[in-house]
Amino acid sequence: MLEIDLCGIQLKNPTILASGVLGISGSLLSRVLTEGGAGAVVTKSVGPVRTGFPNPTVVEVEAGFLNAMGLPNPGIEEFIKEDLIPLANKGPIFASIFGSDSEEFARNARLIEPHVQAIELNVSCPHVQVGQIGQDASLTKEVVSAVKKAVKIPIFCKLTPNVAPQDLIKIARAAQDEGADAITAINTVRAMAIDINIEKPILANRHGGLSGPAIKPIAIRAVYDLATSLDIPIIGVGGITTWEDAVEFFLAGASAIQIGTGIAWKEITIFKSVCEGIKHHLKRKGYANVSDLIKRAHRSIKK
Ligand SMILES: Cc1cc2nc3c(=O)[nH]c(=O)nc-3n(C[C@H](O)[C@H](O)[C@H](O)COP(=O)(O)O)c2cc1C
Repeated sequence: MLEIDLCGIQLKNPTILASGVLGISGSLLSRVLTEGGAGAVVTKSVGPVRTGFPNPTVVEVEAGFLNAMGLPNPGIEEFIKEDLIPLANKGPIFASIFGSDSEEFARNARLIEPHVQAIELNVSCPHVQVGQIGQDASLTKEVVSAVKKAVKIPIFCKLTPNVAPQDLIKIARAAQDEGADAITAINTVRAMAIDINIEKPILANRHGGLSGPAIKPIAIRAVYDLATSLDIPIIGVGGITTWEDAVEFFLAGASAIQIGTGIAWKEITIFKSVCEGIKHHLKRKGYANVSDLIKRAHRSIKK
């Protein structure tokens, strides 16, 4: 009832772990698939070795988290050896990669392709310089084009909401034109918090990215605008903590959804509870399966 086909990849359900929230370890990704019940998982973004920003890197704010991790990772080769190879055949794994330019993105995509079912391009991290690629249609075009030439598996381009709404569509179209198989929307929203006692920004990096329920309406708007303008699937992400949130994303035009902060808000089994809720909703509404609901929603959006 919940199975979907996402760019030719069969998922047992439409819920996917969002990149980065559970860190990098392969064993945690495996638990999200088994205990958690997710249909697929996205790894933390990996690329050239980075130590990340000094602490504090995450702070809880009203209805969300503010984070400026700085893309810490042990380097793509080390990550493949230590965490990805032991995960072989555990379930659909999507790799999130980053790089400083299109050549580096293509090299990283080539290295990781044998170990995963799809690649998500993180061109949209709001607190590092490489995240600026996704704010520019021509830079995004170069990256998608280079990766598309480098690999055969599906590629998802993950976009930032930190641009004017009309630019979001332009950037997404550029990605679609260069062969992106899906768009993931959205990455975190650029934001800030200040400690009134020490009278300084809380995050060591000052700015960070906001996630969680606070950004859900922004994500719904982005998914709706993208779904009305593009032909490729949209993977919706931003603030999902309940099955009702997931259904709202499908009605906005998403073909699958990702959950990040919701895991910390609730627990690792959030994927199972969201799936149970979707199932009951489908029965109550008389849909045979989730693909029917998604197809019907998409038809009404395109009118
Ligand atoms: C602590 C933390 C780390 C994150 N790391 C990454 C990352 O490495 N790559 C990426 O593309 N997105 C990263 N994200 C963004 C999430 O994947 C997701 O797009 C965003 O948090 C919105 O979804 P949510 O509200 O369900 O968390 C991170 C988010 C958080 C909170």
